[in-house]
Amino acid sequence: MSQKPIKLAIFASGKGSNAQKIITHFRWNPDIKVVLVVSNKSDAGVLDIAANAGIPSLIIDKERFFKNDAFLPYLAQNEVDFIILAGFLWKIPENLISAFPGKILNIHPALLPKFGGKGMYGHHVHEAVLAAGEKESGITIHLVDEQYDHGKTIAQFTCPVLAGDTADSLAERIHKLEHAHFPEVIEEFVTGSREQEAGGRRSPE
Ligand code: GRF
Repeated sequence: MSQKPIKLAIFASGKGSNAQKIITHFRWNPDIKVVLVVSNKSDAGVLDIAANAGIPSLIIDKERFFKNDAFLPYLAQNEVDFIILAGFLWKIPENLISAFPGKILNIHPALLPKFGGKGMYGHHVHEAVLAAGEKESGITIHLVDEQYDHGKTIAQFTCPVLAGDTADSLAERIHKLEHAHFPEVIEEFVTGSREQEAGGRRSPE
């Protein structure tokens, strides 16, 4: 008997280029499906990406996200197994973290633990990397806990910081790295988590 597909919700506040890569990556995968896109901004580009892919989306307001528990049943109704933060700018509330223990992944555009924390998003991150004179930057894919950019690291990938880089040129290099790796890391992570939940069963070698 085949297993039910693993269902992902993508949370994003912006353009959604990572969301696009993730949606494309899993488009024909029968085992892993993107079932929902959640955004806190009604004009976020990610909503067009969801609509073009025929994926339902939800624009969430602060009250519902932070105070009203109706959001959790909504995720349950959609049978969401994992939450993928792809440029989602609100802090994840504790009730959501406890409802998805070890099942919320974030991507950060620098090599944590450096250049993370409150206010470290978008160009602020790249400006800080340049100001510190780093020779290398990269991306960190990590689990989400109660603190900004703090949970267990799942994967990191690096790229050089070049002489003459601006925040824009560095951001472009980082975006390429994200697009190249994030979907595959998600695939490995969610597949591995399911195997663990099933008791780590593996077919005999
Ligand atoms: C990415 O750089 C990601 O690391 C950060 O937000 C950005 C989102 O970009 N968390 P996009 O909307 O996917 O293009």
